[in-house]
Amino acid sequence: MTVRISATDWVPGGITAPDAVQIARAFAAAGADAVDVSTGQVTPDEQPAFGRSYQTPFADAIRNQAGIATIAVGVISSYDDVNSIVLAGRADLCAIGRAHLHDPNWTLHAAADQGYAGPGAVWPAPWRAGSGAPRTSRTDGPRPRLELIRTGGPPATRHARWRPGEAASPGPAAGTSPAAPAGETGEAGRVGG
Ligand SMILES: Cc1cc2nc3c(=O)[nH]c(=O)nc-3n(C[C@H](O)[C@H](O)[C@H](O)COP(=O)(O)O)c2cc1C
Repeated sequence: MTVRISATDWVPGGITAPDAVQIARAFAAAGADAVDVSTGQVTPDEQPAFGRSYQTPFADAIRNQAGIATIAVGVISSYDDVNSIVLAGRADLCAIGRAHLHDPNWTLHAAADQGYAGPGAVWPAPWRAGSGAPRTSRTDGPRPRLELIRTGGPPATRHARWRPGEAASPGPAAGTSPAAPAGETGEAGRVGG
């Protein structure tokens, strides 16, 4: 069972983040499995600190202080945002609202972009022929980092930066650095460029 709460009223004298932690503790004690953390929509006087992922700090505080799973929501705009929030331990799930209104296949497209094919993103049979993204853009960019600590496999990626006073070096071509596997060169391929 999940419960959506409004974690702050965004007005002086209203509900604040510490209150929301207490509220989440009460729901956890009553048997809730997770809290879906929204904010505001309580009074027309509210002054929300609106911005990308702007409600995530409340999901973070509840998850890490009340010890209950949270769902972050609110202008979470890309799968990079989602991966960052989940990997950083700020929430257990992310809910995507308006981005799904813009693109009802947002989740399937995010999965395809990251090379995921599995039970979490099943293409309906009539659309399956479109499950591979058209190759209209670069395909050699850095792969998404889906784990916090690299175990085994190729060595860590290398960051090499030009600094004032250093001789310019052509550096390795993108994707050919021996310290970085193809597609994971980070900035190494841009040294001196
Ligand atoms: C058309 C529409 C209807 C919504 N209805 C509700 C609602 O009934 N109850 C609710 O808690 N949130 C409602 N929301 C808010 C969403 O659940 C979500 O919190 C909000 O859109 C922020 O996430 P987003 O930036 O990913 O869209 C609605 C949002 C939209 C766009």
